[in-house]
Amino acid sequence: MKVGFLHSLIRKDEKFLIEAFKAKGVELVMIDDRELIFDLKNVPDVDVIVERSINHSRALHALRLFESAGIKCINTADVARICGDKILTSLALAEHNVPQPEVRVAFTEDSAVRAIEEIGYPVVLKPAVGSWGRLISKVNDRDCAESILEHKTVLGSYHHSIFYIQDYVEKQGRDIRSFVVGDECICAIYRESEHWITNTARGGKASNCPVTEEISAISLAAAKAVGGGIVAIDLFESEQGLLVNEVNYTMEFKNSIDTTGVNIPEKIVEYVTGQAQ
Ligand SMILES: Nc1ncnc2c1ncn2[C@@H]1O[C@H](COP(=O)(O)OP(=O)(O)OP(=O)(O)O)[C@@H](O)[C@H]1O
Ligand SMILES: [Mg+2]
Repeated sequence: MKVGFLHSLIRKDEKFLIEAFKAKGVELVMIDDRELIFDLKNVPDVDVIVERSINHSRALHALRLFESAGIKCINTADVARICGDKILTSLALAEHNVPQPEVRVAFTEDSAVRAIEEIGYPVVLKPAVGSWGRLISKVNDRDCAESILEHKTVLGSYHHSIFYIQDYVEKQGRDIRSFVVGDECICAIYRESEHWITNTARGGKASNCPVTEEISAISLAAAKAVGGGIVAIDLFESEQGLLVNEVNYTMEFKNSIDTTGVNIPEKIVEYVTGQAQ
């Protein structure tokens, strides 16, 4: 079996995966997205492609091009498209009745202020496409709302004037990241921080979170809503129960292997090789 490994920078996560594939005796064909040239005809000689690119636009287009050449991709281009865009993710979750924080989308400064006040302060304003907690803002009052919206409109590219607005969830200083591989929620971590942004990339501390039935059920439902595969789900513990914040499609797991005691790369390799047969 030949597995195509679509990547750009090889981070620690990718190194773990490459080792796990080798340990299983799988032949890897490395596909560097920085070297790729598509002529719309060439088809790489692989049974399946696993996507580990760090650039959303490249991943999205490369997956689409590989799929059109008839190659099975994990995750699919559609999953990348939905998870890479918080508006599409919210829509998919709503269509599948998966609970999430209250959301509004607006396209102008005026309508965005109205949308924010429909939800009520505080709210969180996020770029529809973005990651690692970058450029997300907690908006506590109207002065702050007006000034952030103006800055985004004047200084940002057009994409920053697509306003994705979410209710601010009081989440007890932490959120949960759960890991779904196929039909299984394999493990989860708490991410705890003094700061309201709890990403580990921003200094949040990770610890093991036992996968309860509730965590497993909502994680699998969220994964299914976006099209399934290998995804990481951000969850909030709210007064109304668990809410899905977002779904990540090129999941980072390097800090979660020792924390959870689960061999995440091995689970991924088993799933990918199972899908290729
Ligand atoms: N509505 C919210 N209420 C409370 N906290 C929030 C809310 N939205 C985001 N946060 C906090 O900010 C963090 C980053 O938010 P989010 O995951 O949406 O951004 P991101 O840039 O997509 O991050 P990543 O892709 O790394 O997961 C969350 O993990 C959470 O701690
Ligand atoms: Mg997140």
